[in-house]
Amino acid sequence: MTLPHTLLEGGLLVDGSGQPGWQGDLLMAGDRIVCLGERLRAHPPQGIDLAAAEVVDCRGKVVAPGFIDAHTHDDAAVLRMPEYLPKLSQGITTVVTGNCGISLAPYRVAQAKSPLTLLGADSFRYADMAAYRDAVVAARPSLNVAPLIGHTTLRFAAMEDLDRPASEQEQARMAALLDGCMAEGAFGLSSGLFYEEAYAAPADEVTALARVVARHGGVYATHLRSEMATILEAMVEAGDCAFEAGVPLVISHHKCAGPANWGRTEETLPLVDRLGERQPIAMDVYPYVAGSTVLREDLVDGVIDVLITWSEPHPEAGGRMLADIAAEWGVDQQSAARRLKPGGACYFQMHEDDVERVMAHPRTMIGSDGLPHDRHPHPRLWGAFPRVLARYWRGRGLFTLEQAIHKMTGLTARNFRIPDRGMLRAGHHADVVVFDAERIRDLATYAQPEQLSEGIEAVYVNGQCTYREGGAALTARAGRLLSRKDFSA
Ligand code: ZN
Ligand code: CU
Repeated sequence: MTLPHTLLEGGLLVDGSGQPGWQGDLLMAGDRIVCLGERLRAHPPQGIDLAAAEVVDCRGKVVAPGFIDAHTHDDAAVLRMPEYLPKLSQGITTVVTGNCGISLAPYRVAQAKSPLTLLGADSFRYADMAAYRDAVVAARPSLNVAPLIGHTTLRFAAMEDLDRPASEQEQARMAALLDGCMAEGAFGLSSGLFYEEAYAAPADEVTALARVVARHGGVYATHLRSEMATILEAMVEAGDCAFEAGVPLVISHHKCAGPANWGRTEETLPLVDRLGERQPIAMDVYPYVAGSTVLREDLVDGVIDVLITWSEPHPEAGGRMLADIAAEWGVDQQSAARRLKPGGACYFQMHEDDVERVMAHPRTMIGSDGLPHDRHPHPRLWGAFPRVLARYWRGRGLFTLEQAIHKMTGLTARNFRIPDRGMLRAGHHADVVVFDAERIRDLATYAQPEQLSEGIEAVYVNGQCTYREGGAALTARAGRLLSRKDFSA
Protein backbone atom coordinates (compact mmCIF):
# COMPACT_ATOMS: atom_id res chain seq x y z
CA MET A 1 0.00 0.00 0.00
CA THR A 2 1.35 3.44 -0.86
CA LEU A 3 0.64 6.31 1.46
CA PRO A 4 -1.14 9.35 0.04
CA HIS A 5 1.30 12.11 -0.85
CA THR A 6 0.69 15.84 -0.33
CA LEU A 7 2.93 18.33 -2.11
CA LEU A 8 3.07 21.91 -0.80
CA GLU A 9 4.42 23.68 -3.84
CA GLY A 10 6.38 26.89 -4.30
CA GLY A 11 6.18 28.35 -0.78
CA LEU A 12 8.86 30.16 1.18
CA LEU A 13 10.19 27.28 3.28
CA VAL A 14 11.16 28.59 6.71
CA ASP A 15 12.42 25.43 8.35
CA GLY A 16 12.43 26.40 12.05
CA SER A 17 16.20 26.40 12.47
CA GLY A 18 16.48 30.19 12.21
CA GLN A 19 18.31 29.89 8.86
CA PRO A 20 17.10 31.96 5.89
CA GLY A 21 14.03 30.61 4.13
CA TRP A 22 14.11 29.55 0.47
CA GLN A 23 11.47 28.98 -2.19
CA GLY A 24 10.70 25.34 -2.78
CA ASP A 25 8.40 22.36 -2.30
CA LEU A 26 7.62 20.23 0.71
CA LEU A 27 6.51 16.65 0.22
CA MET A 28 4.57 14.76 2.89
CA ALA A 29 3.43 11.15 2.95
CA GLY A 30 1.24 9.68 5.68
CA ASP A 31 2.24 11.39 8.91
CA ARG A 32 5.81 12.25 7.88
CA ILE A 33 7.79 14.77 5.86
CA VAL A 34 9.40 12.94 2.93
CA CYS A 35 11.67 15.71 1.65
CA LEU A 36 12.16 19.36 0.74
CA GLY A 37 13.32 20.31 -2.73
CA GLU A 38 12.97 22.41 -5.83
CA ARG A 39 10.40 21.58 -8.55
CA LEU A 40 9.69 18.18 -7.07
CA ARG A 41 6.86 17.47 -9.53
CA ALA A 42 9.32 17.62 -12.41
CA HIS A 43 12.04 15.87 -10.43
CA PRO A 44 10.39 13.55 -7.90
CA PRO A 45 12.60 11.70 -5.44
CA GLN A 46 13.61 8.28 -6.67
CA GLY A 47 10.94 5.62 -6.44
CA ILE A 48 8.08 8.07 -5.72
CA ASP A 49 5.26 8.59 -8.19
CA LEU A 50 3.61 11.97 -7.66
CA ALA A 51 0.96 11.54 -10.36
CA ALA A 52 -1.74 10.99 -7.72
CA ALA A 53 -0.35 13.43 -5.13
CA GLU A 54 -2.51 16.22 -3.80
CA VAL A 55 -0.79 19.42 -4.90
CA VAL A 56 -1.31 22.62 -2.92
CA ASP A 57 -0.20 25.90 -4.47
CA CYS A 58 1.74 27.75 -1.77
CA ARG A 59 3.32 30.46 -3.94
CA GLY A 60 3.49 33.71 -2.01
CA LYS A 61 2.95 31.92 1.32
CA VAL A 62 5.23 30.87 4.13
CA VAL A 63 5.48 27.14 4.85
CA ALA A 64 6.81 26.53 8.37
CA PRO A 65 6.82 23.83 11.04
CA GLY A 66 3.60 23.80 13.06
CA PHE A 67 3.99 26.15 16.01
CA ILE A 68 4.75 24.70 19.44
CA ASP A 69 3.13 26.57 22.31
CA ALA A 70 5.88 26.44 24.95
CA HIS A 71 3.67 27.40 27.87
CA THR A 72 0.08 26.25 28.24
CA HIS A 73 -2.57 25.22 30.72
CA ASP A 74 -4.33 23.08 28.13
CA ASP A 75 -4.26 19.74 30.02
CA ALA A 76 -8.05 19.62 30.36
CA ALA A 77 -8.97 21.81 27.38
CA VAL A 78 -7.67 19.25 24.87
CA LEU A 79 -10.06 16.73 26.44
CA ARG A 80 -13.09 19.01 26.78
CA MET A 81 -12.93 20.73 23.41
CA PRO A 82 -10.71 18.42 21.37
CA GLU A 83 -10.95 20.44 18.15
CA TYR A 84 -9.39 23.25 20.20
CA LEU A 85 -9.89 26.07 17.72
CA PRO A 86 -8.29 28.84 19.85
CA LYS A 87 -4.87 27.23 19.42
CA LEU A 88 -5.26 25.41 16.11
CA SER A 89 -6.33 28.64 14.38
CA GLN A 90 -3.04 30.27 15.42
CA GLY A 91 -1.05 27.60 13.58
CA ILE A 92 -0.22 25.75 16.80
CA THR A 93 0.20 21.99 16.37
CA THR A 94 1.70 21.06 19.76
CA VAL A 95 1.02 22.40 23.25
CA VAL A 96 3.36 21.93 26.22
CA THR A 97 0.96 21.36 29.12
CA GLY A 98 1.31 21.18 32.91
CA ASN A 99 3.02 24.54 33.42
CA CYS A 100 3.33 26.68 36.55
CA GLY A 101 3.31 23.62 38.83
CA ILE A 102 -0.21 22.71 37.72
CA SER A 103 -0.80 19.50 35.77
CA LEU A 104 -3.92 17.38 35.55
CA ALA A 105 -2.07 14.11 36.26
CA PRO A 106 -1.19 12.51 38.60
CA TYR A 107 -4.04 13.55 40.91
CA ARG A 108 -7.64 12.48 41.47
CA VAL A 109 -10.11 14.56 43.42
CA ALA A 110 -13.76 15.53 42.99
CA GLN A 111 -13.31 19.27 43.54
CA ALA A 112 -9.82 20.70 43.17
CA LYS A 113 -8.68 23.80 45.03
CA SER A 114 -6.84 26.95 43.90
CA PRO A 115 -4.56 27.21 41.93
CA LEU A 116 -5.45 23.85 40.35
CA THR A 117 -8.81 25.42 39.51
CA LEU A 118 -7.01 27.10 36.57
CA LEU A 119 -7.63 23.75 34.82
CA GLY A 120 -11.26 23.46 35.98
CA ALA A 121 -12.14 22.31 39.49
CA ASP A 122 -13.83 19.09 38.35
CA SER A 123 -11.17 18.03 35.84
CA PHE A 124 -8.84 16.10 38.15
CA ARG A 125 -9.57 12.45 37.35
CA TYR A 126 -6.20 10.96 36.40
CA ALA A 127 -4.17 9.22 39.07
CA ASP A 128 -1.25 8.57 36.74
CA MET A 129 0.12 9.33 33.30
CA ALA A 130 -1.34 6.15 31.80
CA ALA A 131 -4.86 7.25 32.77
CA TYR A 132 -4.27 10.68 31.25
CA ARG A 133 -2.85 9.10 28.11
CA ASP A 134 -5.99 6.95 27.74
CA ALA A 135 -8.14 10.08 28.09
CA VAL A 136 -6.19 11.93 25.39
CA VAL A 137 -6.36 8.94 23.05
CA ALA A 138 -10.13 8.71 23.61
CA ALA A 139 -10.67 12.46 23.08
CA ARG A 140 -8.57 12.56 19.86
CA PRO A 141 -7.51 16.22 20.13
CA SER A 142 -6.67 18.12 16.95
CA LEU A 143 -3.16 18.93 18.18
CA ASN A 144 -0.31 17.20 19.99
CA VAL A 145 0.16 17.33 23.74
CA ALA A 146 3.60 17.34 25.43
CA PRO A 147 2.95 17.07 29.19
CA LEU A 148 4.99 18.39 32.08
CA ILE A 149 4.23 17.23 35.64
CA GLY A 150 3.38 19.95 38.15
CA HIS A 151 5.06 20.24 41.53
CA THR A 152 1.92 21.77 43.06
CA THR A 153 -0.16 18.88 41.72
CA LEU A 154 2.33 16.45 43.31
CA ARG A 155 1.98 18.35 46.61
CA PHE A 156 -1.81 18.05 46.52
CA ALA A 157 -1.47 14.35 45.73
CA ALA A 158 1.03 13.63 48.52
CA MET A 159 0.41 16.17 51.32
CA GLU A 160 -2.35 17.19 53.69
CA ASP A 161 -1.21 20.73 54.53
CA LEU A 162 0.55 22.72 51.88
CA ASP A 163 1.73 25.58 54.08
CA ARG A 164 4.92 23.77 55.09
CA PRO A 165 7.80 21.83 53.49
CA ALA A 166 7.15 18.21 52.55
CA SER A 167 8.13 15.60 55.14
CA GLU A 168 10.57 12.88 54.17
CA GLN A 169 7.70 10.50 53.55
CA GLU A 170 5.77 13.01 51.45
CA GLN A 171 8.89 13.82 49.49
CA ALA A 172 9.33 10.13 48.69
CA ARG A 173 5.69 9.86 47.63
CA MET A 174 6.03 12.84 45.26
CA ALA A 175 9.24 11.42 43.82
CA ALA A 176 7.58 8.06 43.18
CA LEU A 177 4.60 9.66 41.44
CA LEU A 178 6.89 11.81 39.30
CA ASP A 179 9.13 8.87 38.50
CA GLY A 180 6.11 6.93 37.25
CA CYS A 181 5.00 9.80 35.01
CA MET A 182 8.51 10.27 33.61
CA ALA A 183 8.76 6.55 32.89
CA GLU A 184 5.50 6.97 30.90
CA GLY A 185 7.15 9.63 28.73
CA ALA A 186 6.38 12.98 30.43
CA PHE A 187 8.75 15.76 29.39
CA GLY A 188 9.71 17.04 32.83
CA LEU A 189 8.73 18.91 35.96
CA SER A 190 7.15 22.34 36.35
CA SER A 191 6.83 24.44 39.47
CA GLY A 192 4.83 27.49 40.52
CA LEU A 193 6.61 28.59 43.68
CA PHE A 194 4.85 31.95 43.45
CA TYR A 195 1.56 30.29 44.36
CA GLU A 196 0.68 29.95 48.04
CA GLU A 197 0.24 26.18 47.75
CA ALA A 198 3.90 25.78 46.73
CA TYR A 199 5.51 28.82 48.34
CA ALA A 200 6.39 26.93 51.52
CA ALA A 201 8.43 24.44 49.53
CA PRO A 202 12.13 25.09 50.09
CA ALA A 203 14.54 24.88 47.16
CA ASP A 204 15.66 21.42 48.35
CA GLU A 205 12.19 19.99 47.90
CA VAL A 206 12.21 21.01 44.25
CA THR A 207 15.82 20.01 43.66
CA ALA A 208 15.09 16.48 44.89
CA LEU A 209 12.26 16.20 42.35
CA ALA A 210 14.38 17.73 39.59
CA ARG A 211 16.90 14.93 40.23
CA VAL A 212 14.19 12.38 39.39
CA VAL A 213 13.59 14.26 36.14
CA ALA A 214 17.33 14.33 35.40
CA ARG A 215 17.49 10.53 35.57
CA HIS A 216 14.93 10.37 32.74
CA GLY A 217 16.45 13.11 30.60
CA GLY A 218 13.62 15.62 31.18
CA VAL A 219 13.54 19.38 31.78
CA TYR A 220 12.53 21.71 34.62
CA ALA A 221 10.27 24.72 33.95
CA THR A 222 9.44 27.21 36.68
CA HIS A 223 7.10 30.04 37.44
CA LEU A 224 9.57 31.80 39.72
CA ARG A 225 8.95 32.42 43.40
CA SER A 226 8.88 36.13 42.58
CA GLU A 227 8.62 38.19 39.41
CA MET A 228 8.68 41.41 41.38
CA ALA A 229 11.16 42.92 43.89
CA THR A 230 13.06 39.69 44.60
CA ILE A 231 13.15 38.34 41.05
CA LEU A 232 16.95 38.08 40.87
CA GLU A 233 17.03 35.96 44.02
CA ALA A 234 14.25 33.79 42.60
CA MET A 235 16.20 33.31 39.36
CA VAL A 236 19.34 32.31 41.23
CA GLU A 237 17.30 29.82 43.28
CA ALA A 238 15.87 28.27 40.09
CA GLY A 239 19.29 28.25 38.44
CA ASP A 240 20.94 26.51 41.39
CA CYS A 241 18.16 23.98 41.69
CA ALA A 242 18.40 22.96 38.02
CA PHE A 243 22.20 23.03 38.09
CA GLU A 244 22.46 20.84 41.17
CA ALA A 245 19.95 18.38 39.77
CA GLY A 246 21.53 18.37 36.33
CA VAL A 247 18.45 19.39 34.30
CA PRO A 248 17.93 22.09 31.66
CA LEU A 249 15.99 25.07 33.05
CA VAL A 250 13.10 26.98 31.48
CA ILE A 251 12.05 30.23 33.16
CA SER A 252 8.33 30.52 32.47
CA HIS A 253 6.65 33.68 31.10
CA HIS A 254 9.65 35.83 31.99
CA LYS A 255 8.63 39.30 33.11
CA CYS A 256 9.39 42.08 35.56
CA ALA A 257 6.01 42.72 37.14
CA GLY A 258 4.78 45.88 38.84
CA PRO A 259 5.72 49.49 38.02
CA ALA A 260 8.48 49.41 40.66
CA ASN A 261 10.24 46.70 38.62
CA TRP A 262 9.79 48.10 35.13
CA GLY A 263 13.09 48.24 33.27
CA ARG A 264 14.69 45.51 35.34
CA THR A 265 14.98 43.10 32.40
CA GLU A 266 18.24 45.02 31.98
CA GLU A 267 19.32 43.09 35.10
CA THR A 268 17.48 39.80 34.61
CA LEU A 269 18.58 39.06 31.03
CA PRO A 270 22.31 39.46 31.79
CA LEU A 271 21.74 37.10 34.73
CA VAL A 272 20.19 34.55 32.36
CA ASP A 273 23.25 34.87 30.12
CA ARG A 274 25.55 34.44 33.09
CA LEU A 275 23.72 31.32 34.25
CA GLY A 276 23.80 30.14 30.65
CA GLU A 277 27.56 29.90 30.81
CA ARG A 278 27.28 27.11 33.35
CA GLN A 279 23.98 25.36 32.50
CA PRO A 280 21.31 24.96 29.81
CA ILE A 281 18.72 27.71 30.31
CA ALA A 282 15.82 29.12 28.28
CA MET A 283 12.76 31.34 28.75
CA ASP A 284 9.28 31.68 27.33
CA VAL A 285 7.22 34.84 26.91
CA TYR A 286 3.78 35.96 25.72
CA PRO A 287 3.50 39.12 23.63
CA TYR A 288 1.34 41.29 25.92
CA VAL A 289 1.83 43.76 28.77
CA ALA A 290 -0.91 42.16 30.88
CA GLY A 291 -0.50 38.91 32.76
CA SER A 292 -3.39 36.73 33.89
CA THR A 293 -3.91 34.36 36.78
CA VAL A 294 -6.15 33.78 39.77
CA LEU A 295 -7.57 36.84 41.53
CA ARG A 296 -5.33 37.83 44.45
CA GLU A 297 -5.55 40.96 46.57
CA ASP A 298 -1.78 41.24 46.80
CA LEU A 299 -1.60 41.74 43.03
CA VAL A 300 -4.14 44.57 43.22
CA ASP A 301 -2.17 47.71 44.06
CA GLY A 302 -4.67 50.39 43.01
CA VAL A 303 -2.15 51.61 40.41
CA ILE A 304 -2.24 49.06 37.59
CA ASP A 305 -5.43 48.24 35.66
CA VAL A 306 -7.09 44.95 36.55
CA LEU A 307 -9.62 43.23 34.26
CA ILE A 308 -11.77 40.48 35.79
CA THR A 309 -11.75 37.30 33.68
CA TRP A 310 -14.06 35.21 35.86
CA SER A 311 -15.64 35.26 39.31
CA GLU A 312 -17.48 32.46 40.98
CA PRO A 313 -19.71 34.61 43.25
CA HIS A 314 -20.19 37.30 40.55
CA PRO A 315 -20.09 35.70 37.08
CA GLU A 316 -21.40 38.94 35.57
CA ALA A 317 -18.13 40.65 36.53
CA GLY A 318 -16.25 38.72 33.79
CA GLY A 319 -14.91 41.23 31.25
CA ARG A 320 -15.28 44.29 33.55
CA MET A 321 -12.57 46.50 35.08
CA LEU A 322 -12.02 46.01 38.80
CA ALA A 323 -11.87 49.79 39.33
CA ASP A 324 -15.39 50.21 37.91
CA ILE A 325 -16.79 47.41 40.06
CA ALA A 326 -15.12 48.86 43.18
CA ALA A 327 -16.53 52.33 42.42
CA GLU A 328 -19.99 50.88 41.92
CA TRP A 329 -19.80 49.04 45.24
CA GLY A 330 -18.25 52.05 47.00
CA VAL A 331 -15.25 50.05 48.25
CA ASP A 332 -11.53 50.02 47.46
CA GLN A 333 -10.18 47.66 44.78
CA GLN A 334 -8.70 45.19 47.24
CA SER A 335 -12.02 44.76 49.05
CA ALA A 336 -13.80 44.36 45.73
CA ALA A 337 -11.23 41.71 44.73
CA ARG A 338 -11.87 39.87 48.01
CA ARG A 339 -15.61 39.79 47.29
CA LEU A 340 -15.08 38.54 43.75
CA LYS A 341 -12.96 35.56 44.83
CA PRO A 342 -12.56 32.84 43.77
CA GLY A 343 -11.91 34.34 40.38
CA GLY A 344 -9.34 35.33 37.80
CA ALA A 345 -7.98 38.55 36.35
CA CYS A 346 -5.71 40.21 33.79
CA TYR A 347 -3.15 42.45 35.49
CA PHE A 348 -1.61 45.19 33.35
CA GLN A 349 1.67 44.81 35.19
CA MET A 350 4.42 44.88 32.53
CA HIS A 351 6.19 47.55 30.52
CA GLU A 352 6.32 47.25 26.74
CA ASP A 353 10.11 47.76 26.69
CA ASP A 354 10.62 44.77 29.00
CA VAL A 355 8.29 42.58 26.96
CA GLU A 356 10.22 43.42 23.80
CA ARG A 357 13.60 42.94 25.41
CA VAL A 358 12.64 39.47 26.65
CA MET A 359 11.03 38.49 23.36
CA ALA A 360 14.08 39.52 21.33
CA HIS A 361 16.50 37.55 23.51
CA PRO A 362 17.93 34.55 21.61
CA ARG A 363 17.02 32.14 24.44
CA THR A 364 13.33 33.11 24.42
CA MET A 365 10.55 30.90 23.04
CA ILE A 366 6.94 31.95 22.48
CA GLY A 367 4.35 30.52 24.86
CA SER A 368 0.76 31.74 25.10
CA ASP A 369 0.04 31.01 28.78
CA GLY A 370 -3.62 31.14 27.72
CA LEU A 371 -6.27 30.15 30.26
CA PRO A 372 -8.92 28.19 28.37
CA HIS A 373 -11.34 27.81 31.28
CA ASP A 374 -11.82 31.53 31.87
CA ARG A 375 -15.21 32.97 31.03
CA HIS A 376 -13.62 36.09 29.51
CA PRO A 377 -10.04 34.97 28.79
CA HIS A 378 -6.90 37.02 28.25
CA PRO A 379 -6.57 37.50 24.44
CA ARG A 380 -3.30 35.55 24.43
CA LEU A 381 -5.40 32.35 24.36
CA TRP A 382 -6.54 33.14 20.79
CA GLY A 383 -3.94 35.55 19.47
CA ALA A 384 -0.44 35.13 20.92
CA PHE A 385 1.38 33.56 17.95
CA PRO A 386 -0.08 35.67 15.10
CA ARG A 387 0.52 38.72 17.30
CA VAL A 388 4.25 37.99 17.54
CA LEU A 389 4.41 37.91 13.74
CA ALA A 390 2.10 40.87 13.08
CA ARG A 391 3.17 43.26 15.78
CA TYR A 392 6.72 42.32 16.69
CA TRP A 393 8.14 40.99 13.40
CA ARG A 394 6.22 42.90 10.70
CA GLY A 395 5.37 45.96 12.75
CA ARG A 396 8.36 46.50 15.01
CA GLY A 397 11.09 44.54 13.23
CA LEU A 398 12.20 43.04 16.52
CA PHE A 399 13.64 40.00 14.73
CA THR A 400 13.70 38.40 11.28
CA LEU A 401 10.83 36.20 10.13
CA GLU A 402 13.14 33.20 10.44
CA GLN A 403 14.07 34.10 14.02
CA ALA A 404 10.43 34.61 14.96
CA ILE A 405 9.52 31.17 13.56
CA HIS A 406 12.52 29.60 15.31
CA LYS A 407 11.18 30.90 18.65
CA MET A 408 7.87 29.14 17.89
CA THR A 409 9.26 25.84 16.58
CA GLY A 410 12.85 24.58 16.44
CA LEU A 411 14.04 26.30 19.59
CA THR A 412 11.06 25.03 21.55
CA ALA A 413 11.40 21.44 20.33
CA ARG A 414 15.08 21.52 21.27
CA ASN A 415 14.55 23.02 24.73
CA PHE A 416 11.76 20.62 25.68
CA ARG A 417 13.44 17.70 23.89
CA ILE A 418 10.38 17.02 21.76
CA PRO A 419 11.39 14.30 19.31
CA ASP A 420 11.25 14.78 15.51
CA ARG A 421 9.18 17.97 15.47
CA GLY A 422 9.74 21.70 15.26
CA MET A 423 11.73 21.61 12.01
CA LEU A 424 10.99 20.94 8.36
CA ARG A 425 13.23 17.92 7.95
CA ALA A 426 12.97 14.66 6.02
CA GLY A 427 11.66 12.03 8.43
CA HIS A 428 10.10 14.48 10.89
CA HIS A 429 6.41 14.31 11.72
CA ALA A 430 4.39 16.36 9.26
CA ASP A 431 3.25 19.21 11.52
CA VAL A 432 3.13 22.16 9.13
CA VAL A 433 1.54 25.61 8.95
CA VAL A 434 0.95 27.63 5.78
CA PHE A 435 0.40 31.35 6.30
CA ASP A 436 0.36 34.69 4.50
CA ALA A 437 3.16 36.78 5.98
CA GLU A 438 1.61 40.05 4.81
CA ARG A 439 -1.85 39.33 6.17
CA ILE A 440 -1.20 37.43 9.36
CA ARG A 441 -2.76 39.27 12.28
CA ASP A 442 -4.33 38.60 15.68
CA LEU A 443 -7.84 39.97 16.19
CA ALA A 444 -8.35 38.92 19.81
CA THR A 445 -8.48 41.91 22.18
CA TYR A 446 -9.07 42.42 25.89
CA ALA A 447 -12.61 43.57 25.08
CA GLN A 448 -13.26 40.75 22.57
CA PRO A 449 -10.81 37.97 23.33
CA GLU A 450 -12.43 35.11 21.43
CA GLN A 451 -11.55 36.03 17.83
CA LEU A 452 -9.95 33.95 15.12
CA SER A 453 -6.72 35.34 13.70
CA GLU A 454 -6.25 36.24 10.04
CA GLY A 455 -3.73 34.84 7.60
CA ILE A 456 -3.25 31.29 8.90
CA GLU A 457 -4.30 29.51 5.71
CA ALA A 458 -3.78 25.83 6.50
CA VAL A 459 -2.58 23.71 9.39
CA TYR A 460 -1.39 20.09 9.04
CA VAL A 461 -1.07 17.91 12.12
CA ASN A 462 0.69 14.56 11.67
CA GLY A 463 0.14 14.91 7.93
CA GLN A 464 -3.60 15.61 8.14
CA CYS A 465 -5.06 18.91 7.00
CA THR A 466 -6.76 19.95 10.21
CA TYR A 467 -7.62 23.64 9.74
CA ARG A 468 -8.32 26.05 6.92
CA GLU A 469 -8.59 29.79 7.31
CA GLY A 470 -11.86 31.31 8.24
CA GLY A 471 -13.48 28.95 10.55
CA ALA A 472 -14.42 25.51 11.40
CA ALA A 473 -11.79 22.98 12.23
CA LEU A 474 -12.02 20.16 9.74
CA THR A 475 -12.99 16.74 10.96
CA ALA A 476 -9.42 15.45 11.07
CA ARG A 477 -8.23 15.22 14.66
CA ALA A 478 -4.81 13.68 14.39
CA GLY A 479 -3.12 14.98 17.54
CA ARG A 480 -1.26 12.65 19.88
CA LEU A 481 -0.01 12.54 23.41
CA LEU A 482 3.71 12.88 22.79
CA SER A 483 6.34 11.00 24.68
CA ARG A 484 9.90 12.03 25.40
CA LYS A 485 10.91 8.51 24.45
CA ASP A 486 9.60 8.60 20.87
CA PHE A 487 12.84 9.54 19.13
CA SER A 488 13.11 7.67 15.88
CA ALA A 489 16.77 6.93 15.27
ZN1 ZN B 1 2.75 30.91 35.68
CU1 CU C 1 1.31 29.64 33.17
